[in-house]
Amino acid sequence: MNEQVQGASGGPLFNPLAPDFIRDPYPHYDRLRTIDPVHLTSFGQFVCSRHADVSLVMRDKRFGKDFVERTQRRYGPEIMNEPVFRSMSHWMLQADPPDHTRLRGLVVKAFTARRVEDMRPRIQEVVDQTIDAVIDRGHMDLIEDFAFRLPVTIICDMLGIPEDHREVFYKSSRDGGRLLDPVPMTPEEIAKGNAANAMAQMYFQQLFELRRRSPGDDLITQLVQAEEDGSKLSNEELTANIILLFGAGHETTVNLIGNGLLALHRNPDQLALLKARPDLMVNAIEEFLRYDSSVQMTGRVALEDIDDLGGRKIPKGESVLCLLGSANHDPAVYPDRPNRLDVTRPNVKPLSFGGGIHFCLGAQLARIEAEIAIGTLLRRLPDLRIDDVENPEWRPTFVLRGLKRLPASW
Ligand code: HEM
Repeated sequence: MNEQVQGASGGPLFNPLAPDFIRDPYPHYDRLRTIDPVHLTSFGQFVCSRHADVSLVMRDKRFGKDFVERTQRRYGPEIMNEPVFRSMSHWMLQADPPDHTRLRGLVVKAFTARRVEDMRPRIQEVVDQTIDAVIDRGHMDLIEDFAFRLPVTIICDMLGIPEDHREVFYKSSRDGGRLLDPVPMTPEEIAKGNAANAMAQMYFQQLFELRRRSPGDDLITQLVQAEEDGSKLSNEELTANIILLFGAGHETTVNLIGNGLLALHRNPDQLALLKARPDLMVNAIEEFLRYDSSVQMTGRVALEDIDDLGGRKIPKGESVLCLLGSANHDPAVYPDRPNRLDVTRPNVKPLSFGGGIHFCLGAQLARIEAEIAIGTLLRRLPDLRIDDVENPEWRPTFVLRGLKRLPASW
């Protein structure tokens, strides 16, 4: 099989920014898994769609990130002069050991299960305040007025962003998603990325100054102190990883809440069941993550020649895309109607948080935020209805899968 393998309409088998793919990627994944499970795209990347291959690639040490090399292969050697790409090259998400181990080690304690459990009362308070603010209106946009505010507030709390600086973050455009997509960015998109990166750098440099003068009990203070030590963290790494934490800490969780609410309202039997049995909520969140993951893909690079990945040879240096959303619908692991939402489904273990050394740092935080947000909404607004469940407006990005808006009334 090669890149000539085509999709249902005669177009490419993997065309992740096509409107019908964005609207519903799952029939496309079903075809990929059946026809060409390790598919070579016209951009020269290998796309894994089966659970077994996705899971293996994320955990196997023969694969890594190799960000600079991989990006230069795709865009040419000058790309690292673009500030947004230079900044990304310092993200722990894109780093290999030993840098990855060092960067992750500096923040991991803030995300332990215990620390995150302790945040429950604050998360509940923010969700209640958000509902209080709109309850008399009778309608809202579930994305902007509801899902968005919680993760932004919580990551601002964790980073130590002062309350009176936050309004700009609540209003921010959420345009950064294209940075992660496997389809190369246009020069205009790169220019936009550079501008957003420059704004973020300017803001955070000022906040670092503030925290050097007046330390707090927050992640920025912790990292600023690590930077002052000299050997632990460079200034570029500090800024880049704070920008990563801010972005990773909200966009993904907004979409977990939004995609979960849409899935429930498209499946009224499941919605009724969950309202009747709130004890199913923890399992329901795993099912939302599986059913329509807010992160659809992560990637690795072959660090050596790989003889056999799902029947293919992968030469050293080539990129392998791991389709998390497809792995989550693989009948080999979910034999009982994988394309159906079932909040009682047993043994749901979605790959939505990735795997191996890069396994999502915020997984437990995201689960608890979604559990409290969705649980409280169902309890406090039991007759809430989504205006148009059939044709919601999706954001035009592939890796970060989520809705632009989701108007609802009660
Ligand atoms: C539903 C919500 C979320 C999803 C689906 C998600 C998904 C992911 C995925 C797929 C990865 C890459 C794993 C890999 O390549 O193997 C990742 C990494 C990461 N996530 Fe999340 N994430 C979510 C929420 C969060 C939150 C709330 C935070 C922080 C507050 C966060 C911080 C990070 C960080 C820092 C990494 C990089 C970890 C590393 O490279 O070691 N994520 N996440």
